[in-house]
Amino acid sequence: MPPLSENSAQIPGVMIKGRNQRLPMNFLMTIAVEIFTDASEAPLNAVVCASAMNVSINTRSADARYRLVFSVGDGTYLEATDGKKHGRIQVDFCAGGAAHRRLYGGGKGQMIAKAVGIAAAVKPRVFDATAGFGGDAFVLACLGCEVVMMERSPVAAALLQDGLERARQFAQEADADLGEILDRMQLLPGDSIAYLQTQTAPVAEVIYLDPMFPERQKSAAVKKEMQAFHEVIGQDLDDVALLQAALARATHRVVVKRPRHAPPIEGAKPSYAPEGKSSRFDIYALKSFSRT
Ligand SMILES: C[S@@+](CC[C@H](N)C(=O)[O-])C[C@H]1O[C@@H](n2cnc3c(N)ncnc32)[C@H](O)[C@@H]1O
Repeated sequence: MPPLSENSAQIPGVMIKGRNQRLPMNFLMTIAVEIFTDASEAPLNAVVCASAMNVSINTRSADARYRLVFSVGDGTYLEATDGKKHGRIQVDFCAGGAAHRRLYGGGKGQMIAKAVGIAAAVKPRVFDATAGFGGDAFVLACLGCEVVMMERSPVAAALLQDGLERARQFAQEADADLGEILDRMQLLPGDSIAYLQTQTAPVAEVIYLDPMFPERQKSAAVKKEMQAFHEVIGQDLDDVALLQAALARATHRVVVKRPRHAPPIEGAKPSYAPEGKSSRFDIYALKSFSRT
């Protein structure tokens, strides 16, 4: 989940490319999250997010361990209500890990590039069905892929949308190359299973899945931000249905990112599965890119 910054972030899903959509509630949120704003009038993205989560804005909740703040000056960020666990969690494509990987990350040599099938003359169109904070989608867009991302958690979608918007603003002022990368990324709010099941034609050459997998250990080794993400998003218990839906709507391959120790998603068997130090990519090959 690369583009997290611990500094101090419009919502996602809220107004995407001129559309006003409600975010779905069919995800498993394990803990309560409050929604606050410092704007004199609640911004539309906060209203949409609060409505999707069925909570009131600027209302404390005794059992909330996290707070999603829509700030006029600081953008959208997630913080712990006890103020102790970690600083603000915010998506940042302009600095930190995402920016470093864009500039020095190994280009087409990266495992994810090979897993998706990127080559000199091949830049597959990708549907990232589990967008999260957009880290993997950003890497793929940096390598030239057009990426449509879908995210069902209102919290993750809000943070991601905000990260994209702040990055677009920064790119306009100072980084045209970054602007071109961001132009290849589009975020849609919603549940990918429902979306894919209602499509009658393929949605992309590659469908990319990186569903949540339970943390193996709750130790200091697991970054606090990652723990927060796991607590707020919960588990994705429907990955079997997601894989099936993806296999029916990709033309060339479905790629599933897994922790190295995790079994493949139940159901279809991967065609092959290259492994890295901590992750593995289960590749379900449907058609060769060279034959196109
Ligand atoms: C491990 S994170 C993905 C991280 C992402 N690859 C990144 O680099 O930031 C999994 C995300 O997928 C989302 N998700 C899981 N199943 C989904 C579905 N059926 N539709 C939309 N989003 C889904 C979860 O809400 C969570 O935010």
